[in-house]
Amino acid sequence: MTKKDVLFAMVDQECQRQKKGITLIASENYASSNILHMLGSCLMNKYVEGAVGARYYSGCEFVDKIEQETINRFKTLFQAEHVNVQPHAGTQANIAVYLSCLQPGDTILSMSLSHGGHLSHGHPVTLVGSVYKVISYGVSKKDELLDYDEIETLAIQHKPKLIVAGASAYTREIDFKRFAQIAHKVGALLLADIAHTAGLIAAKLHQSPVPYADFVTMTTHKTLRGPRGAIILCKQKWATKIDKAVMPGSQGGTFMHVVAAKGIAAAEAMDSNFAAYQKQVIINAQAMAKELQSLGYRIISGGTDNHMFMCDITHLGINGKQAEHALESIGIFVNRNTIPFDRKSPMLGSGIRIGTAAITTRGATVQDVIKIAHLIHYVLQAYTSGQKYADFSLQVSEISAKLS
Ligand SMILES: Cc1ncc(COP(=O)(O)O)c(C=O)c1O
Repeated sequence: MTKKDVLFAMVDQECQRQKKGITLIASENYASSNILHMLGSCLMNKYVEGAVGARYYSGCEFVDKIEQETINRFKTLFQAEHVNVQPHAGTQANIAVYLSCLQPGDTILSMSLSHGGHLSHGHPVTLVGSVYKVISYGVSKKDELLDYDEIETLAIQHKPKLIVAGASAYTREIDFKRFAQIAHKVGALLLADIAHTAGLIAAKLHQSPVPYADFVTMTTHKTLRGPRGAIILCKQKWATKIDKAVMPGSQGGTFMHVVAAKGIAAAEAMDSNFAAYQKQVIINAQAMAKELQSLGYRIISGGTDNHMFMCDITHLGINGKQAEHALESIGIFVNRNTIPFDRKSPMLGSGIRIGTAAITTRGATVQDVIKIAHLIHYVLQAYTSGQKYADFSLQVSEISAKLS
């Protein structure tokens, strides 16, 4: 195969899309060149199964050191008792936790997908949903916030063995201490899934669940700005069960190139610049949400405490899918989302989810995000009233050209 392979040209096209467009997808980010370097390194060639020092293959002298170093970095970063850096993705990390502490048929209490939860928390279309009994909590109709008293009532009523705290589309800081009180009251274990907010927590801008939860899972590629993958933190008493639930329980060979890249991400998160970046991510999300609010959009729960916000577009008379497509056509990338108590299906949704982690990595300031908010508004207005809006792509290029 030569560099003439059409796939290389396709990758170049994707690079250009990422560079020239404006990425507002809350789960995406731009990893550093050191992380990309690790992902393309010779580590990819090595087969590694089992824990450090107890592998099922020979030739693990150096990969053992690499995995141990990565584990140590995450222990320091999150002050965790035990760390497993092998999960291939957030979904696998959650499955490993379920496997470590639940029996088929046990009850999980988790946030419903339609209110901001994640499929891997037990949606009926997943394996998790078919193996365990899943009870859902949502946000309150009154203010679209988690109602901890109501979650407590559900926990008392259903006596779950595991409570999952964490979400994909909830924009307020989560009170893990309160979740732990509920779990203790009903004798449940607590899993905190911080896939989205790991970077904010690493930067100490949001409460860490580590002192309160039995297990913490996170993806490493969202606000944490590392490679695609996940890690699990747990109390020491769960260490052996978690390691076994990851391998052989739910995975085979470890992706050592990804493990090393996770190690780089942990080091980057300990750098002094990281907290400043995370602060700017929140400032940008809040400024953009406020601007859209002033342009007539309803922001779910009235605002945001984190890197994303949810924008209700019902008043425009279009659905989230239409908005997503209109914006995509001029180079602004968001994703459609259901909003709490939505009557539309997840395929359409009444809202769009907007995140600022990726553009802030490119150096976007409050001034930039305000311009982007106006652009979004012009495009959606033009789309709704049947006017042309393709020319707005020039303004997208101008804003993007200013970013790194
Ligand atoms: C809260 C939460 N948990 C788990 C996941 C799953 O991550 P992955 O896509 O890596 O399986 C996501 C992904 O968006 C998420 O938002």
